[in-house]
Amino acid sequence: MQIPFINLRVEPDFNPKVKTRWEQSLEKSQFIAGEALIELNHKILDFTKAKNFIACANGTDALQIALRAVGVGINDCVLLPDFTFWATYEAVINVGARPVMVDICPQDFQMDFDLFLIAIEKYSPKAIILVHLYGWCSIRLAEFREFCKVKNIYLIEDGAQAIGSFYQGKPIFENAFIATTSFYPAKVLGAAGDGGGIFTNNAEIAQICTQLSNHGRSSHYGHQFVGWNSRLDEVQAHYLVVALDYLALRIESRKNSEKKYLEFQSNFASNKVLPLEMKAAPSEINSNGYLQVSLSKTSYKELSDQLKIKGINCGNVYPSPMSAQIGAGELNELVTKDKITYEICNRIINLPLFPYMHDEEINYVCQSLSDLCKT
Ligand SMILES: Cc1ncc(COP(=O)(O)O)c(C=O)c1O
Repeated sequence: MQIPFINLRVEPDFNPKVKTRWEQSLEKSQFIAGEALIELNHKILDFTKAKNFIACANGTDALQIALRAVGVGINDCVLLPDFTFWATYEAVINVGARPVMVDICPQDFQMDFDLFLIAIEKYSPKAIILVHLYGWCSIRLAEFREFCKVKNIYLIEDGAQAIGSFYQGKPIFENAFIATTSFYPAKVLGAAGDGGGIFTNNAEIAQICTQLSNHGRSSHYGHQFVGWNSRLDEVQAHYLVVALDYLALRIESRKNSEKKYLEFQSNFASNKVLPLEMKAAPSEINSNGYLQVSLSKTSYKELSDQLKIKGINCGNVYPSPMSAQIGAGELNELVTKDKITYEICNRIINLPLFPYMHDEEINYVCQSLSDLCKT
């Protein structure tokens, strides 16, 4: 059996519905800023309970727009977790600011709150980017939000992986000052290409984001800011509108598969040792099932090579801390005590997880893990 890490399985009537919409767009020659974009706006706000949404070209632009909208620029310091996708780091550099990484907490794999407090004292940052990695978030997100509000530090939440997740019973973007997402096809809400967006509960910031993503426009040929072209086109908007109708089902299906993996682990014979430890999101978080999260008892490489022989493809999201990337050069400052990110990057292994996984697929992965067991 061959099991991919990700399979973008969709519902039988999904593609026909998208095709019908795309044909209508073609017939009307409506490609930019059309009806689908308006529809997407309404639907996504309804789903996320956020107050404002601004679609843009991708999740990296969304971060850059958010940083620019709150006034982060040349030489401002921005804190970000050492454990994230490189785009979070790039966005800080691309607006001319200086990134400082903060190590993660071993309980939730997100920025460590105590180290964050140390970093605040040392660097006086203008903004923080928290990354809701794996569709999880910091168990101390409420404290991060409160602290930043009181101290007038802008908190940007990189929610590229977190649409549909809940924190303390609330949709994750509902109480965010400003958050971003990515519609990269493999994300929980994926487009048929690139796409992204910004959520904010502040109407003024929303207005600036709208303008920045469209050449800083105040009118068709009036430019209040220097922005750029980061619009989401109708092809993507139509696809996302249809996908939103199925999003709750897709998330439920992901979560069911995740649950089956965890049940396998908890029912596993106690005299045998699995080659990995599967993790569940901490209890404050109801995740969207974006990724299955495990720690290899050896290393990612060793275990994934063994599973690959059995036809199972795993992920290693992510294999390197930001502070260790060649591209960071000398801008690799890290606030840490035990370099947790370095250890986690080496051991993290993500088992196959995607919408509508078949029981046989999950059972095959579990059986293969069981075959690798030591007694
Ligand atoms: C945490 C995180 N931030 C930002 C991005 C960037 O999104 P995009 O690829 O849409 O630019 C991604 C996507 O891979 C991501 O996972």
